[in-house]
Amino acid sequence: MTDREWAGERLEQIGRKATGMIKKAREVDFIPYTVQNGSWACGPMDGMAWWTNGFYPAFFWQLYALTGEGLYREEAVRAQCLLDKAFEDFPHLHHDVGFMWRISSGFQYDLEGGQEALQKTLYAANLLLGRYNPNGFIRAWNGDCVGWAIIDCMMNLSLLYFASEKTGDPRFALAAQRHAETVRKHFIRENGSSEHIVIFDPMTGDVLDKPGGQGYGPGSEWTRGQGWAAYGFSLAGRHLKREDFTQTALNVARHAVLQLGENDLCPVDFLAPESPLIYDDCASAILACAFLDLHEQTGDPLLKTKASQMLHALSDHHASWGEESPAILQHCTGAYHGKDHEIPMIYGDYYFLEGLIRLAGKIKLRW
Ligand code: GLY
Repeated sequence: MTDREWAGERLEQIGRKATGMIKKAREVDFIPYTVQNGSWACGPMDGMAWWTNGFYPAFFWQLYALTGEGLYREEAVRAQCLLDKAFEDFPHLHHDVGFMWRISSGFQYDLEGGQEALQKTLYAANLLLGRYNPNGFIRAWNGDCVGWAIIDCMMNLSLLYFASEKTGDPRFALAAQRHAETVRKHFIRENGSSEHIVIFDPMTGDVLDKPGGQGYGPGSEWTRGQGWAAYGFSLAGRHLKREDFTQTALNVARHAVLQLGENDLCPVDFLAPESPLIYDDCASAILACAFLDLHEQTGDPLLKTKASQMLHALSDHHASWGEESPAILQHCTGAYHGKDHEIPMIYGDYYFLEGLIRLAGKIKLRW
């Protein structure tokens, strides 16, 4: 069976599963994040402003773009109405407005246009641009984290590319470009791996510290962060037409390929001790998407082969295809030292779906 045929069959399986996902989601008044006792559960904090809340509508925009099935559009719009309440909660919004609105109202605009979808997405982009520090980085979190930048933000930059492309105003893309340049200089190590967090002096831009973040510890290789770096730089290369960013993405991706174990499933950190072995399916799915995006741009055959092997491994060993859980992937992890280990997480399912759509050669909606 070819990769395309295999991915096509998995997409049909997801279609069968989606009806149950929607039914369970309509029993609750929040946007699904994880699963507890067979039912959807919400994010642990920030209410509707929880950073993953754009992924559930994005999952259904992708399915709608693939199939044209009205139920999927209806579900994406229903979830977006809930998500948009987060605009009223400014204190809890941070740089992840990129994740939240680029792939919700932003995908809606990509598919069908409309002033309302455009305005919401541009509103979110202005919030993100407002976090730009003129020393060349986007502030990640709130509270005391004034000079903190994190690798995850490379994905949020997509909201800025969108805003410059739609408005013709280069400020958004220029801020994205400066941020990516800073990240390449201070996050990406010689061997191609990435830091999670870099703390800058907010007045001067000097580097103050590189703490461990959600991985095993300082200097380690948090796998989801490697995914954010590979996919984020691939997108930066594509949108900003900068081959040096694409090359950085390739370096990160090739390093991750070397670090992956024989079973093609990501542990939460490539440099964590062998025991306990804690998986993170989100990292596997994000890296698979990054590899496929890079393969599309560079033609590197190794990256496509590896992405296919990773998606097969997730499907064969870590997916729930029945009715026991409304989520698909079951082994996602928030942080090495956190308490959420090997549970379902909605963005793992989103990237798994995106990866399968890419492998099937049917991608229409892009970051
Ligand atoms: N963006 C937060 C995370 O990856 O956990």
